[in-house]
Formats: sequence, structure tokens, C-alpha cells
Amino acid sequence: MADDASRAGDRYASADILNWCADTHAPHDAGLAQAFDAKGAGLPPIQVGPSEGKSLGLLVKMCGARKIVEVGTLAGYSAVWMARALPADGHLWSFEFDAKHAAVARKNLNAAGIGDRVTVVEGAALDTMASIESEGPFDVVFVDADKKNYPHYGAWAAKHLRPGGLLIGDNAFLFGRLLEDSDEAKAMRAFHEEARAHFDTVCLPTPDGLVLAIKK
Ligand code: SAH
Ligand code: DHB
Ligand code: MG
Repeated sequence: MADDASRAGDRYASADILNWCADTHAPHDAGLAQAFDAKGAGLPPIQVGPSEGKSLGLLVKMCGARKIVEVGTLAGYSAVWMARALPADGHLWSFEFDAKHAAVARKNLNAAGIGDRVTVVEGAALDTMASIESEGPFDVVFVDADKKNYPHYGAWAAKHLRPGGLLIGDNAFLFGRLLEDSDEAKAMRAFHEEARAHFDTVCLPTPDGLVLAIKK
């Protein structure tokens, strides 16, 4: 259902409604709760929300993914959702710049029971992603790291995803700054436009926008 108000940006979802839906459809067990608590581990609390995490898991199942690439691990919360949606012989490679974040994530992934299905690769993703190219083509690439490099991650995905594979990009509204005249905003707009050139695309209106794209 849509009406003029909601088409113009009004939202019917209050915080209580959003929380009720997250609790109903995307409840946390101990493993998810530990990975969600980035703040408790001394990391910034910038992981995706529970409903977005569950959406990532469902998308992984919908396209029958066996090989996933994530750019931006943090404490491993989105990685737990995606890795749990993989078949037993599937694998997720997750790229993380910060050694402390990578260490916390490895601990959380082990606690969540999927440590053997995930490789956390430390370093700046643009320097390290070449190391897994021989494992491709991949089924899903989830981009959630430094925003200025999104166009590079999108180009990598266009090259290394199989036809029908998914590119997913968080923070596609760039915290509300997407239309500004900054280098970061230009980069995020280039990510949208590049994605459109190589994929069948949409930008879902999650709190900060989620680009969802199928490789042509
Ligand atoms: N996907 C995670 C959240 C990621 S937050 C989740 O939803 O649970 C963004 C992460 O990207 C941070 O941990 C940050 O250290 C990392 N990052 C920033 N620049 C990076 C780079 N160049 N390469 C790899 N990771 C990077
Ligand atoms: C930040 C990064 C993210 O990926 C996010 O979803 C929210 C915030 C950040 O760097 O501040
Ligand atoms: Mg994000």
C-alpha cells in the first residue's frame, strides 16, 4: 500500500513497530547477540540492523549462494547471518581493515558455530581482494566498508560475480548525504550508477538505503 504521504517519505513504522517486527522475524540467539554487541567489545556500533541481517540471510538462500564476499566485517554480525544461510560446503570471505575488529569477529564467528565457514582477511580490502580471485566466480558480494571506495568494490563485484549473482551495498543514502557535493557523495553516486550499468538494480529504502543488484 502506498499513498501520497508515504510516497513523499512519511513512514508508518515507529521504533516500537520496527522492534516488534525484528523480534518476530529476526530474533537473536546467543551467537547473534554476541556479534551484535560490537559496542560491548569496544568497537563502534555500526553493524546492520536485525531485519537487514535477516534480509541478507534470506537473499543468500534465495540465490542458492555457496560463495560470498563481504567487504567490512566489524564484529561479524552480518557475517553470522550470511554464513548461517550457506550450505555446509559454502564459504564466506570477509575483508576487514582493522586488526582488532578482525580478532573480535573471529571470536564471535567461532562462538556462533560458523568459524569454519568464514575467512576473515585482514588489511585494506583493495589490497587483499585479489588474493581470493581464483576462488571465484562468487554468488554474493556485500559491500559495507569505507564509502569512498564503493565504486572500486562495485567494479570488483561486476568482474567476479557469476551472472545472476547479487551485489548488495549498505549505506546507499550515505547517512543522508548522498546528494551533496563531496567526494564521498560523488563516489556513492558513482557506485549506484556503475551498478546500474552492469546489474539489474534497486535501492531499497532501509534506514540508510540498501542497493540490491543482480549481475546481468
Ligand atoms: N558489515 C558489518 C559492519 C561493517 S562496519 C556488520 O553489519 O556487522 C564497516 C567496517 O569496514 C569497519 O569494521 C571498518 O574497520 C571496515 N573498513 C573500513 N575501511 C576498510 C577497508 N579499506 N578495507 C576493509 N575494511 C574496511
Ligand atoms: C558507519 C559505517 C557503516 O557501514 C554504517 O552502516 C554506519 C556507520 C561509519 O563508518 O560511521
Ligand atoms: Mg553499513
